[in-house]
Amino acid sequence: MAPDNNPITYYQTTKLQNYRTKTMPKIKIKNINHIAIVVEDIEDALSFWRDALGLELSHIEDVPEQHSMVAFLPAKHSEVELVEPTSDESGVARYLSKQGPGMHHICFEVEDIESALEHMKSKGIRLINEEPQIGTAGKKIAFVHPESTNGVLVELYELTEQEPRIRFERARALADRMSAGRESMAASAREFLNRIREGSN
Ligand code: CO
Repeated sequence: MAPDNNPITYYQTTKLQNYRTKTMPKIKIKNINHIAIVVEDIEDALSFWRDALGLELSHIEDVPEQHSMVAFLPAKHSEVELVEPTSDESGVARYLSKQGPGMHHICFEVEDIESALEHMKSKGIRLINEEPQIGTAGKKIAFVHPESTNGVLVELYELTEQEPRIRFERARALADRMSAGRESMAASAREFLNRIREGSN
């Protein structure tokens, strides 16, 4: 029997084609930018994510607008972000006290966030941010409500070219501030800065 006449193959092929049609890209996804994991303590968390799993710590950043400290661990084209709340006020702190540590959100980088949001609105998707929020250097950010995403908080990013410079400056500022405090984190941040300097020479 020719494969085309095989009912199972036919069924599978048709079903697959249906899935493909339904998921035709109206939104241009560039990559998974990061997966954010809420932790009580970055230093402790690194004992798994860096030391046991083997991801490299690129740097640690203070993110004042989110009342958090974030450790960045690249995994090829994406990153794991370990997010430690620095104030009880933050949404992340509330999440941590309610749910405990765990996966907080997954972030996709898109080409055009406005049209991505429009597209989702047209599909009846519940958005936390109907309009993109503007972050550092014009980075555009929006969150999609877990109610529409099978329970996963989804973040969308549209990045600008200034992003790497901003990151570098933040890491340097953090290293300066932390030199009196938690020494090993400052050391990590410095190590990262040194590596960038070596790389750019
Ligand atoms: Co994020």
